[in-house]
Amino acid sequence: MSDEARQHRTAAVIPAAGRGVRLGPGVPKALRALGGTPMLIHAVRAMAASRAVSLVVVVAPPDGAPGVKNLLNEHALPERTDYLVVPGGETRQESVRLGLDALPDDITTVLVHDAARPLVPVDTVDAVVEAVHGGSPAVVPALPLTDTVKQVEPRQKGEPEPVVATPDRALLRAVQTPQGFDRATLVGAHETVVRGGDGATDCAGMVEQLGTTVMVVTGHEEAFKVTRPLDLVLAEAVLARRRANDGF
Ligand code: CTP
Ligand code: MG
Repeated sequence: MSDEARQHRTAAVIPAAGRGVRLGPGVPKALRALGGTPMLIHAVRAMAASRAVSLVVVVAPPDGAPGVKNLLNEHALPERTDYLVVPGGETRQESVRLGLDALPDDITTVLVHDAARPLVPVDTVDAVVEAVHGGSPAVVPALPLTDTVKQVEPRQKGEPEPVVATPDRALLRAVQTPQGFDRATLVGAHETVVRGGDGATDCAGMVEQLGTTVMVVTGHEEAFKVTRPLDLVLAEAVLARRRANDGF
């Protein structure tokens, strides 16, 4: 471990309290199986795979904390990684705040990682951690867009919508998680930024509102979010490819 890393103790907060409405009916999204293992367990392992991460805080569905605790007990994590489970809230923003409230005093760096991004490679996690430890108070992994993006005047669902503008794609990035923060910066944002209707879906956006510069590092295509049914097909395919490559 470098001197720089030694001054930091890093925790990963995993918001996993969403229902997964866009994925369709069934158990909460984080508990849906991927390759026979709950998505949440993949996400926890992805964070624990980073040597920098000493604590994982899982924010469980509000009434599902005991079940999630059992699940974590059943699936071994590396010896060096502790974990905690807390019940989540109505919005992602609230769930993240409940996770932050549970952090022990000695944690200096916080990663926030969607349970719905179960396949993020450890190199991406490490790149975010390194950038925070290197002095950036807020860091997000992101990729250039492949689709052209149009700004529209929204209409009722299904109705044609007039285009207002076409932003220059070269200036845009699609943001992933884990997002990494100096703890005080993220806690400050959660204490200051007023909650809108659905809450912020992106912690870095809250930090931006306080005037702090958020830095982007290169993300990874396997850090995609499982949102709709087709994403599950892709996730299964990625897992199958990994298993084939690992010689399972
Ligand atoms: N999340 C959370 N608490 C909430 C809502 C969301 O912890 N009240 C978490 C989800 O569990 C997920 C992450 O935030 O890991 C990203 O949210 P999203 O992909 O939107 O998941 P859901 O909200 O579950 O899905 P949907 O919006 O389709 O219902
Ligand atoms: Mg959601």
